[in-house]
Amino acid sequence: MILVTGTTGKLGHAILSHLIDRGAPVTASSRGGVGASRALDFDRPDTVTLTGVDTLVLVSAGEAEDDVVIARHEAVIAAAERDGVAHVVYTSLVGEGDHLAFALAHRWTERRLQQSALSWTILRNGLYAELFGSLLQWSGAGLTSAFGEGALAAATRGDLAEAAAVVAMDASAHSGQTYELTGAPITAHQVAAHVGVTLIDITLQERREQLDHAELKPFQPAMLISIHTAVRHGFLARTGDDLAGLLGREPSKTVAVAAEVLRASE
Ligand SMILES: NC(=O)c1ccc[n+]([C@@H]2O[C@H](COP(=O)([O-])OP(=O)(O)OC[C@H]3O[C@@H](n4cnc5c(N)ncnc54)[C@H](OP(=O)(O)O)[C@@H]3O)[C@@H](O)[C@H]2O)c1
Repeated sequence: MILVTGTTGKLGHAILSHLIDRGAPVTASSRGGVGASRALDFDRPDTVTLTGVDTLVLVSAGEAEDDVVIARHEAVIAAAERDGVAHVVYTSLVGEGDHLAFALAHRWTERRLQQSALSWTILRNGLYAELFGSLLQWSGAGLTSAFGEGALAAATRGDLAEAAAVVAMDASAHSGQTYELTGAPITAHQVAAHVGVTLIDITLQERREQLDHAELKPFQPAMLISIHTAVRHGFLARTGDDLAGLLGREPSKTVAVAAEVLRASE
């Protein structure tokens, strides 16, 4: 049986849907256990039981400080070892993302799996096209962006979910593999042109000042600025063939998906 975590979230829900569509024996889990899903709260290790699970799709639970995220992932991997899970598929962060403020917890989790006796596959997900669209700010009739001319090799959540389902369906064939899952690079200027609005370039300091006025958790401004500086300075632009290889087709066009999110936020 395959178990997918984080199915109240967007990625986990999409992975679950793909697996159900493919007729896989699959069950869902979420923090609170909605409907028939198992209640696994990673912040309460006593709730994390994985009996009967052959393949675990561990969707990172990453919206917190590193110590919290690492403790969550440790609780799940320790339970997988204890309860006899054969294979763990982990949704990580693209290799070029090492400069991002949230990279460390992903690399810790990768290392924890690699040093375990579990069979594993690491899916190093590129940043979502949906996230890129959401990070452009409406200002009057136009948009502001601190991404400069930098490009992001983005991927859509839908494609990343499908790739995770493909791997989970045939886990042993992907054992010990690390995949870099990115699509064609896109820029803020391309997204603005797609929407048909003017783009005003701003500096990182101006972006930080915008964030100062947003209601954010303490760790979030550093996380968001790290995304902006990495894209702006060309550290997230590299793409490869792994996503197309798992999907068996070209990845979806990401400019349109980013533009859709942007329009919805107007
Ligand atoms: N590649 C990217 O661009 C990108 C962008 C943002 C995030 N991410 C990472 O990718 C993950 C999935 O993305 P997403 O878009 O699906 O995020 P999402 O919609 O925020 O979903 C996150 C999921 O993690 C679950 N979770 C959080 N803390 C948990 C805990 N203590 N115990 C059990 N479950 C917990 C949430 O459960 P609840 O609903 O109960 O909170 C939710 O189901 C994120 O968690 C984050 O690590 C990647």
